[in-house]
Amino acid sequence: MSWRGVIAAYRAFLPVGAKTPIVTLHEGNTPLLFAPRLSKRVAPDAKVYLKCEGLNPTGSFKDRGMTVAISKAVERGAKAVICASTGNTSASAAAYAARAGLACFVLLPKGKIASGKLAQALMSGAQTIAVKGNFDVALDLVRRIAEEHPVAVVNSVNPDRIEGQKTAAFEIVDALGEAPHYHFIPVGNAGNITAYWKGYREYRQAGKCRRLPRMIGFQAAGAAPIFHDEPVARPETVATAIRIGNPASWQAAKVALTQSNGLVDVVTDEEILEAQLWLAVNEGVFVEPASAASVAGLLKCAGRRPHPECPLAAELHASLIPAAPTIVCTVTGHGLKDPDIVARHAMNAVTVRATKESVLKAMGLA
Ligand code: F0G
Repeated sequence: MSWRGVIAAYRAFLPVGAKTPIVTLHEGNTPLLFAPRLSKRVAPDAKVYLKCEGLNPTGSFKDRGMTVAISKAVERGAKAVICASTGNTSASAAAYAARAGLACFVLLPKGKIASGKLAQALMSGAQTIAVKGNFDVALDLVRRIAEEHPVAVVNSVNPDRIEGQKTAAFEIVDALGEAPHYHFIPVGNAGNITAYWKGYREYRQAGKCRRLPRMIGFQAAGAAPIFHDEPVARPETVATAIRIGNPASWQAAKVALTQSNGLVDVVTDEEILEAQLWLAVNEGVFVEPASAASVAGLLKCAGRRPHPECPLAAELHASLIPAAPTIVCTVTGHGLKDPDIVARHAMNAVTVRATKESVLKAMGLA
């Protein structure tokens, strides 16, 4: 049977009933792609998989949560939804609201949104408001406005979002037949790490897997409140999706990290960009910078040249990890979201005259 979205696939685990109108763009069912070169870089017997969330309808994992959040908003009689966003939540909210016929308001940190994401919000007809402030400021405004006006918040402070997003963990277990040993994930507002942990726990409870993974979160070095255990007033990173200084799901993420015997660490912008390019060149997977944080993190703490200060690296080298570890890296959003990033990689097409000779010369064949 053809795939009909995460609510149809995992209804028994989700807060939907017979009366819930299902708003879906057939999100989910994303590839869990074995990454042979990445595996080899980690350890000879490691198996590393990429959960390619960029293949969701609007190009990020947000769609899993949005199908539930928008369906529930419609069920409750909402006429309008609102969110703050570093880009992907707004792209998803705009699309699902359009599908449902709801008005959608999105608050974006002015000038800090990747161009693809802004295009998505605008094209789906969302009322797009650029706020002269960062994401944390925008989310605070959203919460205050929603207290006084009849608009439903569809940020991950809405528990329906977390419910939908946990289905990614279900899919991983369904594909592997077991949970991985390690799950690497970028952390911004911290909803997704919370959702995965919830998903893994519920699936184990249901007897679908025996083990639980260690959750390994990565923040950008310039936007790492959880790592530093302190809010960051002026977060800064090339990975604009995770440019967040005061995550809404901070406490829940801490619980996930503690319960799973996990870790949170940082990766620099250079490490993020390096991992982004490496992944595209070596595995054929083009992800946006924030998504590359999970892979940058894996490369930081594993492989032949692990980072000396990374606690997990010490552990990996003390052979505390199981033989033949299974590792999943969530790559959260598609590379096409942020096409301007190519400038940071200082790459350009070669321009030639329209002759065979010129092209052959550019190919190095003449
Ligand atoms: N990766 C991407 C591509 C994201 O868009 C986000 C968050 C994250 C990772 C971090 O996930 O917030 O659950 O810890 N983007 C939000 C947004 C904040 O507004 O689109 P998180």
